[in-house]
Amino acid sequence: MQITNWRPSAPGVWRLTIGEPQGITPLSLMGVSPKAEALQHMPQVQPPFAWESVQLEEASGCLILSIPLDRTEKLYGTGLQLLRMNQRGRNRYLRVNSDPKQDTGETHAPVPFYVSDLGYGVWVDTSRIVTMYCGSTMRQEETQSEDIRDRNTDKEWKATLVASRVEIRLPVEGADVYVFGGPTLSDAVARYNLFCGGGILPPKWGLGFWHRVPTLYTDQQVLEEAEQFRRHDIPCDVIGLEPGWHSQSYPVSYEWEKSRFPEPEKFVKALDQSGFRVNLWEHPFVSPKSELYEELKPLSGSHSVWGGLAPDYSLPAAVELYKKQHEEQHVNIGVSGYKLDECDGSDLTNNSWMFPGHAQFPSGLDGEQMRQMYGLMFQKMTAELFRSKNRRTYGLVRASNAAASTMPYVLYSDLYDHKQFIRGLCSSSFSGLLWTPEVRRARNAEDWVRRMQTVCFSPLAMLNAWGDGTKPWSFPEVEGTVRHYIKLRMGLLPYLYTAFATYREQGIPPFRAMPFVMSASEIAEAEALYAEAAEQTLNTTDAAYGKKKVREWDDQYMFGDALLVAPLVEGESEREVLLPSGIWYGLETGERYTGGCIIRVQSGLERIPVFVRNGSVIPMMPALAHVPPLGTRVPLELVHFGDGMGEGNLYDNDGESFDYEQGKFGWWKAAVTQNAAGVYSGELIGTDGEPTSFSSVTWRFAHKGFLPL
Ligand code: GAL
Repeated sequence: MQITNWRPSAPGVWRLTIGEPQGITPLSLMGVSPKAEALQHMPQVQPPFAWESVQLEEASGCLILSIPLDRTEKLYGTGLQLLRMNQRGRNRYLRVNSDPKQDTGETHAPVPFYVSDLGYGVWVDTSRIVTMYCGSTMRQEETQSEDIRDRNTDKEWKATLVASRVEIRLPVEGADVYVFGGPTLSDAVARYNLFCGGGILPPKWGLGFWHRVPTLYTDQQVLEEAEQFRRHDIPCDVIGLEPGWHSQSYPVSYEWEKSRFPEPEKFVKALDQSGFRVNLWEHPFVSPKSELYEELKPLSGSHSVWGGLAPDYSLPAAVELYKKQHEEQHVNIGVSGYKLDECDGSDLTNNSWMFPGHAQFPSGLDGEQMRQMYGLMFQKMTAELFRSKNRRTYGLVRASNAAASTMPYVLYSDLYDHKQFIRGLCSSSFSGLLWTPEVRRARNAEDWVRRMQTVCFSPLAMLNAWGDGTKPWSFPEVEGTVRHYIKLRMGLLPYLYTAFATYREQGIPPFRAMPFVMSASEIAEAEALYAEAAEQTLNTTDAAYGKKKVREWDDQYMFGDALLVAPLVEGESEREVLLPSGIWYGLETGERYTGGCIIRVQSGLERIPVFVRNGSVIPMMPALAHVPPLGTRVPLELVHFGDGMGEGNLYDNDGESFDYEQGKFGWWKAAVTQNAAGVYSGELIGTDGEPTSFSSVTWRFAHKGFLPL
């Protein structure tokens, strides 16, 4: 059946309501409204395909929506995907799961939203599991006879033929489907993020370094460990407490354990005085020992987990109970936020836990819907709690879904492959999600320093020592390099904060994959040049349908507009880097490169390859032990890279409250000009007076890569 009743929903966004969608969805749960003004400022676009080419069909127990595809089109997104970035040719079974060890699409944060490198996106807003067949299914009538090969005799035989449609398995009751126009892939993602309320702006302290202490630590052990950070001259802003601060952890009580933390308020204040915030680990399943248990019991699901209740947080009464307890026992004594663990569930053979899909909840939701939505519910409840105090929070969550871009939460995983962790930085950027490649342990100093370098160029720089007791100085031979990168992150804080403000206001993620900045043809051109010059065979056939490995450039990413990060992992001392066109410099080597091509770079353990675009102006501050408290001013340094004219942006506000929503913020342009004699001068141009976080402004010109600290 053809469907044509698409309705404009926002500038460049169209909605199709299929069937009679029921109950909550990510969009309705989050209650966000589109950032209308920002959407209005985006380029005007036409629908990306003819509506008549979209088909809907009833199948057994579901509906199938199918959307046309070009033969070479690549598809990105579908949430946090650690095992591949281009989803073309794959079945994506988008179910929340904490063990995404196989490339099925299951993940901590499945999002039924894909974007095409042709510059558009498609999103299904539902609380149910959606399967997206991303050009992996072949209709009989569309099968091309020339594509059919015999596996007995033909080496080119492929398991999946190149398909001409995406097929989406929708819940039988239907769903709202949205199409986002471009014209570029970056525009399509920005539209999706803006439609979902824009990106999150974390508090400044959230962008400093984080350390999570081992389980069962006492207050004294935590205080001593915090003190060691200062002694080792390693900046740190947040200390995370893991299981053991609660009287009961699995299931959880949400109450302080009196023997380990006899005076929680005093403990939190003591840390605060030395510039540390406290983040608390928790999970959803409420212990019979918790004071919340009896009241939450009638508001909980039919099945328990680890003997604890699984409350129905679609019910306002349950939300109120949770919030009140958390407010009184944690937030009011100064706790800064949470790590919302275990809200994804696990289906490993040796470790299966979670309520089943057929569980019933008092609101009428079933276990499938609740599991898909649980992570979002916890993010929302806790975010609201801090908002009600006019305090921003920033924390961690292990499950998410669509419409999460306004949430102050960063995803993490128990998996630990470094390359997959880097790919997570790329893949999450397509779906309004943030991800941390957290460091826990290492096989050796090399593994350690490489992981530390990566995490310092991510949305949340954290050592999660809950099970390993590691510290940044655990490998003394690389301690200096680890300190250097944690300090470099602190120095770059004004730049990082500005990148987040751009996310908030324009929907462009602070860390983003290469297809955001290079079109498919630019990438193909760079690859062709490389193959020619170096006689290197970068296979450019579509790996999604082939057996050969293809370079997807899912191991490097942009950090803001000016920096490109190309991490190395243990065992590597050189790598290929895809550089967008223009002139680039090695941020710390000063080496000059011409982009629009692929380069090879070498780097010892003391360096992560990071490149800065010629003409960029990067706002920096001193690498303090922690982010300065509200009202403290620090010097601002504007560093201009390369030669010729240049510019950069600076955003600033109080860094902690929501007052910026009432207009208390400013944007400045840092513009550099050069006179006829070659002398540089810089000007900070803005209509909002002086940026209040800074005591002075100095300039550095014509840097060709440098060691700023
Ligand atoms: C895991 C979590 C780890 C750590 C641990 C504590 O579920 O992913 O980061 O918090 O629980 O038991």
